[in-house]
Amino acid sequence: EDNLFKNVISHAKEYGFIFPSSEIYDGLSAVYDYGQNGAELKNNIKEYWWKFMTLLHENIVGIDAAIFMHPTTWKASGHVDAFSDPMLDNKDSKKRYRADVLIEDAIAKMEDKIAKEVEKAAKRFGDSFDKEKFLATNARTVEYQQKIDNTNERLKTAMTNADMAAMKQLIVDLDIADPVSGTKNWTDVRQFNLMFSTEMGSVADDANKVYLRPETAQGIFVNFLNVQKSGRMKIPFGIAQIGKAFRNEIVARQFIFRMREFEQMEMQFFVKPGEEMKWYEYWKEKRMRWHQTLGLGAENYRFHDHLNLAHYANAACDIQFNFPMGFKELEGIHSRTDFDLKSHEKFSGKKLQYFDAEDNQNYIPYVVETSVGLDRMFLSILAKSYQEEKLEDGSERVVLRIPAPLAPHKVAILPLMKKDGLSEKAMEIMDDLKFDLNCFYEEKDAIGRRYRRQDAIGTPYCITIDHQTLEDNTVTIRDRDTMKQERVKIEDVKGKLISACSI
Ligand code: GAP
Repeated sequence: EDNLFKNVISHAKEYGFIFPSSEIYDGLSAVYDYGQNGAELKNNIKEYWWKFMTLLHENIVGIDAAIFMHPTTWKASGHVDAFSDPMLDNKDSKKRYRADVLIEDAIAKMEDKIAKEVEKAAKRFGDSFDKEKFLATNARTVEYQQKIDNTNERLKTAMTNADMAAMKQLIVDLDIADPVSGTKNWTDVRQFNLMFSTEMGSVADDANKVYLRPETAQGIFVNFLNVQKSGRMKIPFGIAQIGKAFRNEIVARQFIFRMREFEQMEMQFFVKPGEEMKWYEYWKEKRMRWHQTLGLGAENYRFHDHLNLAHYANAACDIQFNFPMGFKELEGIHSRTDFDLKSHEKFSGKKLQYFDAEDNQNYIPYVVETSVGLDRMFLSILAKSYQEEKLEDGSERVVLRIPAPLAPHKVAILPLMKKDGLSEKAMEIMDDLKFDLNCFYEEKDAIGRRYRRQDAIGTPYCITIDHQTLEDNTVTIRDRDTMKQERVKIEDVKGKLISACSI
């Protein structure tokens, strides 16, 4: 499996799907660029999702909100407070730690020491041992206990006040060493929020601090009434969006599975309070079916219910996919209650209520959210469609069996040779197809090698133009998956391909 994953990653690079970001500078950790074929595949996934959401559901509309949002947005959403940890680095090992965890470990060690003293004394005194009395009078354990109490108190105060200098002082006073290097050569303690921040305007001070959104959802929440009113939307209705999100992931590994810059496809569905569980079940089932319709194998998807719920949710689950590294989260479906809208009402001072004409009442709607990572979708498709095959004639090929509607190119136009007017004829056919189908034109190399290259980028069909074409206006269509060829009249090609490549 590991080897297969490595092959998928190198294939993605060799064939223009995914490149490491700024590769000539040795890349940037957990950031990737999509190449010429990757960009096409990604756009097709977006379209597949967008059409499903907005065309197939007359009560769902799509928006495109900005990445930058008013900083208060992230206070209201809970991301400023709930998304940060106090971190520090050891300068020798270059390892990064959570300061509060190091301090808690040190406390645990002191507690161990007390327990050992107690154990020793118990052995010494035998039946006459009085633990309470021992703890109250033994100079050493009393000293440890005082230190523990004092440390706990200082830690609590430092955490409550987000006082990073006090956290650092605790590390120094407790004489904490890095478990890896053994040294006490620490940097300062810094708040390490998963959100990226930058300054807006030319003056760099805290008042101008803005964040790169860590989820697209908030752009929908703050626009909820704008869309509802301008679109005369009636509950239940949804707002869909595709866009970039940014998270300063501390552990960023596994190719495009966990990135620092990624894309989400999210839909917030606004419902009447009390009806959220019905819609939660509805969207769970709908989303699962959407994934399975792709044809990568229904057995590669499963639900995973969340037992520990986030502060805003009253139900949540993932749709997991069988990635090369095992079943992992692909999409999240969350019943977010009225948490976000209520909080935005509080922080903004603006009413965010819906007037329900049928019931003649105002209320803050409840929200059921579906949130899928575009890059994870991409990885699921790439990894499952990558196949190394041994052919009957003993040769080998690598083929990407990408579902035809998502393939970067639908058809390759291949004149058997450049001369005898075959290229001109091929161009003519291409001109007729290229507005409706993404075509790839190639006239170099032997036809077999050209087929292999199309297999490797997942092109479902190849059209070959030969001498017979000039005589009877037919071409051969080669199928990527079966490698079978059939002769077809040119006038039938377009209809045939369009129907084969639609969902
Ligand atoms: N609005 C809800 C939300 O953002 P999430 O579970 O944190 O929920 C939703 O993220 C989806 O976004 C995940 O299921 C995953 O597909 C994708 N995602 C999250 N973090 C990611 C990362 N660092 N890299 C790539 N995709 C990520």
